[in-house]
Amino acid sequence: MSLRERWGSRSAFVMAAIGSAVGLGNVWRYPYVVYKSGGGAFLIPFLVALLTAGIPLMILEYWLGQRAQAGAPQSLKKTHKNFEWVGWWALMAALILTFYYAVVMSWCFNYLYYAWSLPEWSPNAKDFFFAKVLQVSSGPFDFGEFPYVAWPVVMGLAISWISVYLIICKGVARVGKVVLITVPLPVILLLILVIRGMTLDGSGEGLKFFLEPNFAALKDPTIWLSAYGQVFFSLSLGFGTLIAYASYTPKNSDITNNAFIVSLADCGISYMAGFAIFSTLGYLAFSQGLPVQDVVSKGPGLAFIVYPTALSLMPLGAILAVLFFIMLLTLGIDSLFSMVEGVIAGVHDKWGFSKGKLVGLYCIFAFMMGLLFASKAGLYWLDIIDHFVTEYTLLLVGLFQCVAVGWFSNISQARQEINKQSDFSLGIWWELCIKYIAPVILVAILGSSLYQELQKPYEGYPSQALAIGVAMTASAFLAGWLFASLKGRHHE
Ligand code: PHE
Repeated sequence: MSLRERWGSRSAFVMAAIGSAVGLGNVWRYPYVVYKSGGGAFLIPFLVALLTAGIPLMILEYWLGQRAQAGAPQSLKKTHKNFEWVGWWALMAALILTFYYAVVMSWCFNYLYYAWSLPEWSPNAKDFFFAKVLQVSSGPFDFGEFPYVAWPVVMGLAISWISVYLIICKGVARVGKVVLITVPLPVILLLILVIRGMTLDGSGEGLKFFLEPNFAALKDPTIWLSAYGQVFFSLSLGFGTLIAYASYTPKNSDITNNAFIVSLADCGISYMAGFAIFSTLGYLAFSQGLPVQDVVSKGPGLAFIVYPTALSLMPLGAILAVLFFIMLLTLGIDSLFSMVEGVIAGVHDKWGFSKGKLVGLYCIFAFMMGLLFASKAGLYWLDIIDHFVTEYTLLLVGLFQCVAVGWFSNISQARQEINKQSDFSLGIWWELCIKYIAPVILVAILGSSLYQELQKPYEGYPSQALAIGVAMTASAFLAGWLFASLKGRHHE
């Protein structure tokens, strides 16, 4: 058997894990989920989610991958033979996520192209985004006129997949180098935006909306669902990605400290993005005489409307805009290829196909599937599929991972192993979290949100469209079972 690939060093692994975690989830998804959930209402659920599920599960996933030295399906199988399907299910979720993640990258490529003319279109950033770039139609079943797709988005999508192919086909060592640039640059740029944003008139109101806790909203299960979903999405949990990345570390590498570094860095960057966006929203509210919650639409377009506005208010706005969209792209690309890597690692471990060919096929297939989201109804589909995949599927995968390790294998032994090789020791709280706390919370959230969902369809979309979202989630689950039941190269 050939030796498993390796990161160059401990810091290469930590950087790659941060590169995977920090992505569009922090700068694009986090602000709009916060905005949709009512700002401060999100704050407490998010922190609770980070502490009860985010960090403990990250430790768990690192341990799973490192111990088994294999991708998600084989790693889970090692805890108990009946859990391989959970790993495949996670990979299916990652596969679906890449279909639309690459489309959001494509929006960024478009914005990079238009960045030079920022002063011309930024006063109308909203129309620019919806009408010019996305060419959005009236609803999920309205694909507009022939050719039904927004060409600029299709082109950007092609560029995204070509870049992923070129970076990934050379293997993980190169990934370690790419992230050395893609991680620090964004922090500096975001800092500039935060400082500028906070000096704008009205920014205080925006920040108040972002940070003032709303205790009454804690009763709403959908906010909790969004918070857990966002933590999973942002920390790359439940997609099998971290398991694969950890499998490229030697068996005795530190786990606990690395998990804390990665999750806190990720969370910090989300907050920075929040400060940048909400201070600017405060300014927009102030200049238009509207309340903060009514300034822009609450969907996935938020970042693409607010950042350009913020940039246009700065000296040398166009140049900063170019840098900013390069930053979004660099942030997104390492997350995107980490998802692909996770899926490929799973397939490679089981059947041993050549990685280069697999990556090529993957990119072509994902490009084609992405065309749905690049269509004129694409924004609606993105919103719907994202809701079912990141909010329901991920939480379920997380739940089953906790059950697999907490109930079907020896979790105390797992903690001992982790403690033996980590910089600092995990207390018993970790076992309690994985075994009881996280599963109970996840079941409660999933149950009550599902109940609400049946009363009130998500975002008022037509039920046929939501049914397609559910069908896609279910097929990921079935595909998970199917892959697990196929014979691998080492017949078990
Ligand atoms: N965490 C990444 C982000 O925030 C997304 C991601 C999910 C990456 C799953 C890898 C695996 O953008």
